[in-house]
Amino acid sequence: MSILRLPSLRRSALSLALMAAATSVHASDVEVLHWWTSGGEARAANVLKELLEAEGYGWEDFAVAGGGGETAMTVLKSRAMSGNPPSAAQIKGPEIQEWGELGLLGDLDEVAEQEGWNDLLPEVIADIMRHDGQYVAVPANVHRVNWLWANPEVLETAGVEMPTTLDELFSAGEAIREAGFVPLAHGGQDWQDATVFESVVLGSQGVDFYRQSLVELDPDALGSEQMVDALETFKRLRELMDEGMPGRDWNIATNMVIEGDAGFQLMGDWAKGEFTAAGLTAGEDYLCAAAPGSEDAFSFNVDSLAMFRVSDDDERSAQQALARLVLEPTFQEAFNLAKGSIPARPDLDMSAFDSCAEQSLADFKRTAEEGGLVPSMSHGMAVRADVQGAIFDVVTNYFNDASMSAEQAAERLVSAAQAASF
Ligand code: GAL
Repeated sequence: MSILRLPSLRRSALSLALMAAATSVHASDVEVLHWWTSGGEARAANVLKELLEAEGYGWEDFAVAGGGGETAMTVLKSRAMSGNPPSAAQIKGPEIQEWGELGLLGDLDEVAEQEGWNDLLPEVIADIMRHDGQYVAVPANVHRVNWLWANPEVLETAGVEMPTTLDELFSAGEAIREAGFVPLAHGGQDWQDATVFESVVLGSQGVDFYRQSLVELDPDALGSEQMVDALETFKRLRELMDEGMPGRDWNIATNMVIEGDAGFQLMGDWAKGEFTAAGLTAGEDYLCAAAPGSEDAFSFNVDSLAMFRVSDDDERSAQQALARLVLEPTFQEAFNLAKGSIPARPDLDMSAFDSCAEQSLADFKRTAEEGGLVPSMSHGMAVRADVQGAIFDVVTNYFNDASMSAEQAAERLVSAAQAASF
């Protein structure tokens, strides 16, 4: 659902926000809206809180539970519509532009210039952080979405290896089922369905097709035989999932892998934050690999904090301190170690990071050169929020409706992309 599809709210949001000088928060506090509430995520968010407090600013936590952030974004919209947005919010990808267009974001150019952000950040990331040429958000990390996680003991008991193709995933899954485990841990929520779907499109149809269909929204690609094929493969994955999946949170699914109840999970590397929080070691206690068939692709998801325009100088300096801290090495290292992602700036010492993070960084660089680096549709990096929401609806309805054919779903994807564009 786009904020821009609500023109009357758009006008009132703007005037109310301009009128609203005071918030309930003390001026030197920063109120930060985010959805980092799982074990690993909360550890990561705490890094920022502590760094900010060490500089004498207060952290007003505005955590809204719900993986993927849909609920957080709904809450943010209602706060903004009532003229009382938080100082900072986790806003990502093209949605930063939507908030920028409403005139609600404050610019961070002063701190960006002082800290040399233009030199520190890869252009693909810096570009997302600017609106109308000015920095309005600061990146915390780079998540990779197309990952497969596994419990090595479950794999060993079932006598299977880490799969590198979707066919191998299906046959490994069968063996894991026969050995008495859930093959693929999953949570039946629309964004999790879309996360898996995205990896299947990449793994079965490749990067060019992914870009045409889920980034450029080309109707020929969305309605093609290739899309039908990807949708069918995606739905077949249900065979590897368990009956308990409806409504299950993503971190509960990760926990099934941690506990040895399930063999695999297809999920972005915030899942690594859960393995880390459980004290497990990458490459030993758990395995990571590119989602089957997608080793030449990297669907990226950059978490970022955008700052809302404020008139109070103290509040503004607190926002600037927050923005500065986020890109400093101390935060980038500690936050990303806990979060499972890699730093947003590529110049840092990576010796404290594990083998999955090393692979992520190497693959980020390789795919950036070779053309496999693509924005994640399922995590708000590729298309505007209303289009993403319309695609989510089709994907999740298809996945959960035994009577909907892949051909029908592909047609609906074409309409979803068209209906949502303006
Ligand atoms: C993503 C977000 C991650 C992680 C995940 C699960 O959209 O970028 O930071 O929080 O959702 O909630």
